[in-house]
Amino acid sequence: MRFTIVTLFQGYFAGALESGILGRAREAGLVTVDFVDLRVFGEGRHRVTDDYPFGGGAGMVMKPGPVVSAIEVARAASPGCRVVLLTPQGRLFRQPVARELASAGREGPGGLVLVCGRYEGFDERIRPYCDDELSIGDFVLMGGEAAALVVIEAVARLLPGVLGAEASSEEETLSEGLLEYPQYTRPRSFRGAAVPEVLLGGHHADVAAWRRRQALVRTARRRPDLLDAAPLSDDDRRWARRAAADEA
Ligand code: ADE
Repeated sequence: MRFTIVTLFQGYFAGALESGILGRAREAGLVTVDFVDLRVFGEGRHRVTDDYPFGGGAGMVMKPGPVVSAIEVARAASPGCRVVLLTPQGRLFRQPVARELASAGREGPGGLVLVCGRYEGFDERIRPYCDDELSIGDFVLMGGEAAALVVIEAVARLLPGVLGAEASSEEETLSEGLLEYPQYTRPRSFRGAAVPEVLLGGHHADVAAWRRRQALVRTARRRPDLLDAAPLSDDDRRWARRAAADEA
């Protein structure tokens, strides 16, 4: 899948794109990342990309000319792409959105164009040139770059072959709308804390049942909001809430 990042700060991404699973996925050709340098489209001798807000107020605003020109260049280079503006005003980026972007990116050759701004915001007239707006959470970053990396990480790991044989992206946290069950590895006893007996016995059905219950209780205790949206039976829901209440 192809990602194109529109940014003033290409250097920001260097380490992240080379490291670990993402680095391997790029080497294997499963993921490509291209950049469009916003500075090139800056105006005047100083290649300015931001300006004071009309009407006054704190902070600077990304100018429409440079951003829209950069988007047009990205679109021309990736026909069929989806252009996403990263902004705290966007729809919330959650696992179902990552899944949606991964399947769109797999099918369409153009992939995803991620537009990162700095400063206080984008001139409103930039919005019609984008297909979507995403926020990675209800907080304000210094710019969209960290958000673009979050999107790339979450989407890339859902692409076939990226995680390799050792892991299935489907059988884990949030894939069924639940938090993950508790995990353990060696040693069997760590500073007096033992691994739950059921995990040592090799009874796959028992292990699966224990994990399911743990995931339900953990979600009910930590993120009851997820429980409401998860595909569960009414019994599951009642059981999880009661178990979580008993434990509290
Ligand atoms: N840019 C600044 N804050 C952001 C956020 N929370 N999500 C996406 N882009 C952003």
